[in-house]
Amino acid sequence: MRVLVVGGAGYIGSHMVRALLRPGHEAVVLDNLSKGHREAVPADSLVLGDFGDGELLDRVMQQHGIEAVMHFGALSLVGESMTRPDKYFQNNVAKGLALLDGMVRNKVRYLVFSSTAAVYGEPEQAPITEDARLRPTNPYGESKLAFEKILKWYDAAFGLKSISLRYFNAAGADPAGDIGEDHSPETHLIPLVIQAALGRRGNIRVFGTDYPTPDGTCIRDYIHINDLAEAHLLALKALAGGAESTAYNLGNGSGYSVLEVIRTVEQVSGRKVEAVLGGRRAGDPAVLVAGSERIKQELGWQPKFPELEEIVGTAWKWHFGHPDGFK
Ligand code: UFG
Repeated sequence: MRVLVVGGAGYIGSHMVRALLRPGHEAVVLDNLSKGHREAVPADSLVLGDFGDGELLDRVMQQHGIEAVMHFGALSLVGESMTRPDKYFQNNVAKGLALLDGMVRNKVRYLVFSSTAAVYGEPEQAPITEDARLRPTNPYGESKLAFEKILKWYDAAFGLKSISLRYFNAAGADPAGDIGEDHSPETHLIPLVIQAALGRRGNIRVFGTDYPTPDGTCIRDYIHINDLAEAHLLALKALAGGAESTAYNLGNGSGYSVLEVIRTVEQVSGRKVEAVLGGRRAGDPAVLVAGSERIKQELGWQPKFPELEEIVGTAWKWHFGHPDGFK
């Protein structure tokens, strides 16, 4: 299929583009490079621009005969969203509407949407299944949930079919080692611990040691970026085969604590990391673990990198080879 990958030059998007090109889809990347990297995607696939620009959308969709959209063009920092909800609703909802309207105008019927575990908020259960209560605790999660709801009504009114994938903690890099995570500023645990192992930062601060978990630190479900991309391919295939609009969780179903992640980076890298035990970061739930049975059963998704060691190993390869990221 001819797929428009919005935000395709970013961390998750660039791995998606690579996955699309493998089984013979065509990928056109639309990215304003506010977060993404030109070097992360094939040069001839990149259209530089904004997904809120309706005229540009019309041009790109028509020129390339776009049949489906994958949408990675979000702001995604929970902390920032607390102080700048305006930016989050503007980018993730208002601009997202412009994208949907562009799809409707150009009769592009299929969308795979990057959603998040943050739509659940403070969980009442582990693992979290798709029927859990949706009660975001920050504007980031709220903006993603708002968009999921909009999608439901765009399906009812305009026949736009969508699958929302609620990611848990995306991590790792393509095993080839030439693309990977490069955020500025970096806020995510695995790249920060790796930077400490590489001596590019003095230590890693552990946000909270008094959580109700076995070692007192937060537990997360880390999922390899290529396994995420694979799920998008399956979602696309399902939509093209007539599937109804829905949402799926995407995680491995096993949780690792912050201290376990640090130990894993030490094992994989063979280097010591200094952990500084600190206070909690506002808004962090103690445990976030995905129940991903539905996507396994309904779409046949199977993670190929379920072990934290493998995930960290691929991240280590990328950061070791590119200590300054794409620069
Ligand atoms: N952490 C530290 N020290 C750091 C950075 C993170 O201890 O320097 C801890 C966090 O407190 C958390 C864990 O490591 O317990 C993972 O933190 P990340 O920032 O890597 O990821 P989050 O779990 O906060 O965020 C992820 C996604 C978001 C999504 C959120 C849902 O990246 O997009 O889960 O809660 F919204």
